[in-house]
Amino acid sequence: MKISIIGGGAWGTTLGQTLIDNGHQVLIYDLNPNAVQKINQHFHPFFDTILPDGVVATTSLQEVIDFSNYFLLSVPTKAVRSVLKEINPLLKRKAVFINVSKGIEPDSLKRVSEIVEEEIEAAHLKGFVVLTGPSHAEEMILRKLTLLVSSSKDLELAQEIQTIFSNDQYLRVYTSGDLIGCEVGGAVKNAIAVISGACTGLGLGENARAAVIARGIVEIVKVVEIMGGKKETAFGLTGIGDLIVTASSENSRNFMAGKKLGLGFSVEQIYAEQKQTIEGFRTIEAMHHLSEVYHTELPMINAAYDILTGKLDIKDGVTRLLSRDLKSEDF
Ligand SMILES: NC(=O)c1ccc[n+]([C@@H]2O[C@H](COP(=O)([O-])OP(=O)(O)OC[C@H]3O[C@@H](n4cnc5c(N)ncnc54)[C@H](O)[C@@H]3O)[C@@H](O)[C@H]2O)c1
Repeated sequence: MKISIIGGGAWGTTLGQTLIDNGHQVLIYDLNPNAVQKINQHFHPFFDTILPDGVVATTSLQEVIDFSNYFLLSVPTKAVRSVLKEINPLLKRKAVFINVSKGIEPDSLKRVSEIVEEEIEAAHLKGFVVLTGPSHAEEMILRKLTLLVSSSKDLELAQEIQTIFSNDQYLRVYTSGDLIGCEVGGAVKNAIAVISGACTGLGLGENARAAVIARGIVEIVKVVEIMGGKKETAFGLTGIGDLIVTASSENSRNFMAGKKLGLGFSVEQIYAEQKQTIEGFRTIEAMHHLSEVYHTELPMINAAYDILTGKLDIKDGVTRLLSRDLKSEDF
């Protein structure tokens, strides 16, 4: 099987290695010539790892489109729409889109599957799958055990992607019929990871982190249900699984960005230091918009939004959350 990978960053290149491990062929496209050059010299662009033969890259979008009928989207969510706008006029046949980026468009509140449906001509869109779950690229590049979920409206297609990516060495992929729940869980957990990191930066302890994770799942469930997914999905790999790995690890850029906020860095300083994707900040913006549109309470995410936009000091954010009306936890 041939797979075209759009975005040769930390995750896209790592998945390229997995596909080669599984006996497939890959071609990675990235607009950054330095990343492409490193990959073609057998180096991962971000990790100190030698890539296997067969992980090859190009800066030519036409070349990667001609390469296969399966496009794996691994660019940051903010680049997804623009890259699809470039792909659409060049695509002259049906193709499957597999998305691994995690986010929701702040203005439109669209999920990536909806953006793909809007930007790719229906006659050329064979299907859409999201491949998501608890996964640090830093670990998968070392072939450490990982479980993911392949979800699509088309169960056969979800199963096909499950088979392509699974192996008996380190990667097991489940399927799910709840595309919305999987897409939303994977996106919103990044917002909660920022909050968890901020608590750590503020010097709060593990009690606080557990509280953020548990109450974070409540906010994720609310969003999953509002957007039309199943709340049970939030209790699986794509929700709580991904939240645990992201909200408790210094390997997570979202956790680390939050930690810096807690340590007193400004948003501008954090972006200046971290050139790679920080999806959580953008997801906080999207979720704040969603809570206004649907008149729903997302207390932690909205406090984070006010902190990010300079309306609230981070310490006052904690006080605001603690001084909310006391209530029962009954579900
Ligand atoms: N890093 C991980 O462990 C991990 C795991 C699972 C999911 N993800 C998700 O995958 C997505 C990508 O994450 P990443 O860590 O690989 O980010 P990254 O910043 O390391 O890589 C993104 C790559 O996309 C490229 N890119 C950006 N805009 C482009 C465009 N218009 N055309 C072509 N290439 C473009 C960049 O040059 C960069 O190489 C994010 O949504 C992230 O949440 C990451």
